[in-house]
Amino acid sequence: MQTKIKRRRDEFPTLASGIHLLSHSLGPVPRVARESMLAYYDAWEHHTSEDAWATSWWEMSAAVGDHLARIIGGDPGSVQIQPNASIGLSTVASCFDFQSSDRNKIVTTALDFPSMQYIWGAQERVGATIEVVHSDDGITISTDEIVAAIDDTTALVALSHVSFRSSNRIEVKPIVERAHKYGALVLLDIYQSAGAMELSAADWDVDFMIGGTIKWLCGGPACGYLYVRPGLQTELQPRLTGWVAHDAPFDFAQPPMRYSDSVRRFAQGTPSIPALYSVLPGLQIIEEVGVQTIRAESERRTQSMIAFALDRGWKVNNPRDVNHRGGSVMIYVEDGPGMVKRLGERKVFVDCRPGVGLRMSPHFFNTDEEVHEAMQILAELM
Ligand SMILES: Cc1ncc(COP(=O)(O)O)c(C=O)c1O
Repeated sequence: MQTKIKRRRDEFPTLASGIHLLSHSLGPVPRVARESMLAYYDAWEHHTSEDAWATSWWEMSAAVGDHLARIIGGDPGSVQIQPNASIGLSTVASCFDFQSSDRNKIVTTALDFPSMQYIWGAQERVGATIEVVHSDDGITISTDEIVAAIDDTTALVALSHVSFRSSNRIEVKPIVERAHKYGALVLLDIYQSAGAMELSAADWDVDFMIGGTIKWLCGGPACGYLYVRPGLQTELQPRLTGWVAHDAPFDFAQPPMRYSDSVRRFAQGTPSIPALYSVLPGLQIIEEVGVQTIRAESERRTQSMIAFALDRGWKVNNPRDVNHRGGSVMIYVEDGPGMVKRLGERKVFVDCRPGVGLRMSPHFFNTDEEVHEAMQILAELM
């Protein structure tokens, strides 16, 4: 049954170009983002002094952070905007001193985004040891195996909440429970779940979350974010830092560094103000539509897309259980780039990844009719 959901399609000019199933990669821009960017430009043009900071720019980073916190189930003051998710992750990595501690193991998984693997690989040079929990089928990861990898040498468990490869969704609670029992911290990469489903940062008691706005949050590029559990924030002193993280940044004080007591201690230098203006309209829309509604729609449509594929004997590279899945459907095809091109020629916009096949993601703005039409066109081209 199709729910009575406002799809707000005329608020997204891009949707007139075809069937947009790319929310795992590049969300469509909301029409109001243009006004928001022009408002930024107008304000910038009229700032003749440093008053820009006092009148809006400084507060804006915290306001966008709080907006994101609401979407991911965190408390106000728990999210610091970052240039991108990779810098968010590197900021967390820089809080650890692997060399002078026996607690130097990072537990990750084979389904994480490459950035995470590169960043943790780089920490091996400063004393970290990395344990990558493997995936037997390249699609799923056993929670038991993740849990079993956590011991009293573990500093951090850092994994994708939802995998970019297979949309595999890990179970958060048993992992956080085990990690905290052994004195380790937990970081979730929520890039593929924030804006696509309900998240409960505070209830999960998770320590860090990283992500960005370009995909499911319809917010465009260049705005990442880092959630840090409020009770943990002041225990950490990131080495990847800068003047914005200082307690009194406009004092331009001589060293030593005195970190802010707020989540701003995880900032670095001048924030990207245009990025903040560009993400606000998307965040507003996602919050108004509601992540619960978005998830209900996603479950209904991904189930029917997978059923359609399995009926035709196609290989589906997703977990079968909806409770272990995010919002994307991965369908194996021989020639991924060729199929993406042919679908594009029929105005169906998807992408592909090596070894995975097509990635297709219905969001709240897609109609049932166009999701079905996309699958029919794929059937013709298969
Ligand atoms: C799960 C996941 N994590 C991280 C990233 C990379 O984020 P950023 O480019 O902001 O560092 C992506 C981008 O595709 C992703 O899908």
